Amino acid sequence: MDLVTFCHEVPKVELHAHLNGSLSRSTMLQLQRCLADLGMTDKSNAFLDEFQMSSGDSINLSEVFPLFVIAHELTSIPQTLAMATALTLQEFEDDGCCYIELRSTPKETLHMSYKQYIEAIIQTLKNNTASIIACLIISINRSSQQQEIEIITDLAIEYHKKYPDLVVGIELSGNPAVGKFQYFVPVLTKAREAGLKITLHCGEICNPQEVIEMLKFKPERIGHAVCIHPLYGGNDEIWQLLCKSQIPVEVCLTSNVSTKSTPDYSSHHFKELYNANIPISICTDDKGVFATSLSQEYRICAETFGIDPSKLARISLRSCDYIFSEDKRKTLSDKILNFINKNGL
Ligand code: IMP
Ligand code: ZN
Repeated sequence: MDLVTFCHEVPKVELHAHLNGSLSRSTMLQLQRCLADLGMTDKSNAFLDEFQMSSGDSINLSEVFPLFVIAHELTSIPQTLAMATALTLQEFEDDGCCYIELRSTPKETLHMSYKQYIEAIIQTLKNNTASIIACLIISINRSSQQQEIEIITDLAIEYHKKYPDLVVGIELSGNPAVGKFQYFVPVLTKAREAGLKITLHCGEICNPQEVIEMLKFKPERIGHAVCIHPLYGGNDEIWQLLCKSQIPVEVCLTSNVSTKSTPDYSSHHFKELYNANIPISICTDDKGVFATSLSQEYRICAETFGIDPSKLARISLRSCDYIFSEDKRKTLSDKILNFINKNGL
């Protein structure tokens, strides 16, 4: 089996994918058509070409955030939001993904309340006929105001109680240059006490004090972890803290290179995380914006760091231990183990 085929075939789990950042061009065109059929005008048409970056292109991290508005235009009614969810799940399944924790920030639009936003996604997950197992992590944006943060947290708790198998976690994302982690500790604590698991975008930009606060909060996972190792803007203290904590890291190679958080693939901190035996999972972040796929991220990882298929399959296998739906861990790891055994890995 060549590497491209192998990376496609190996059953993979996706633990860090933002719904609106994951929209492919084909999905966006279908959403546009749906809005047009409903007689609704949307302003995304003129900007569709700007949404997806060309391979090899890069922009500053702060320039990425305005791009999501283009997708938000298209998912501003329950119908298109549900469609975006279903099409995105299908794309992950077609890419050989057997489990996904899709994440999204509930929004209030002219046509939808926060509750309807969550409902639209939940109903799609409930009606999911694809074989991919899918659940939801509710996102909180660092730029949000207190009232919105509280509404979203309370809804996350409400829906977790109603659908514990579907709403599995809560996460903090958005522009890392805005807001302070401490501000979110009370709502995250409340969510944790209600049984939601927590993942945090951590160390996307250099902010050692915030990394310390986040690691001490002991989230179940963190995303990115770029500026933690001393070589990449971190320091020994926070690196040691991460090593000791053994908190799994959602690694997003292309996202970090495309946003210039990392100069190129070969200098990505994957190497340090892997060599230090820190638990990792390979993820896409925003496959639409960064023009990637989970199997492509696996291939890039293998080619850049010389990870052979046996080791690559075991990265996927170990990711099962970090998924938020604990009762699905065994089924998924059995599936991956079966692939490993069948292929003599
Ligand atoms: P949504 O939550 O489904 O609307 O997905 C898009 C949102 O995810 C963006 O508006 C950001 O808040 C968040 N997001 C996507 N990529 C990143 C990232 O690299 N860092 C931090 N936040 C991100
Ligand atoms: Zn992210």
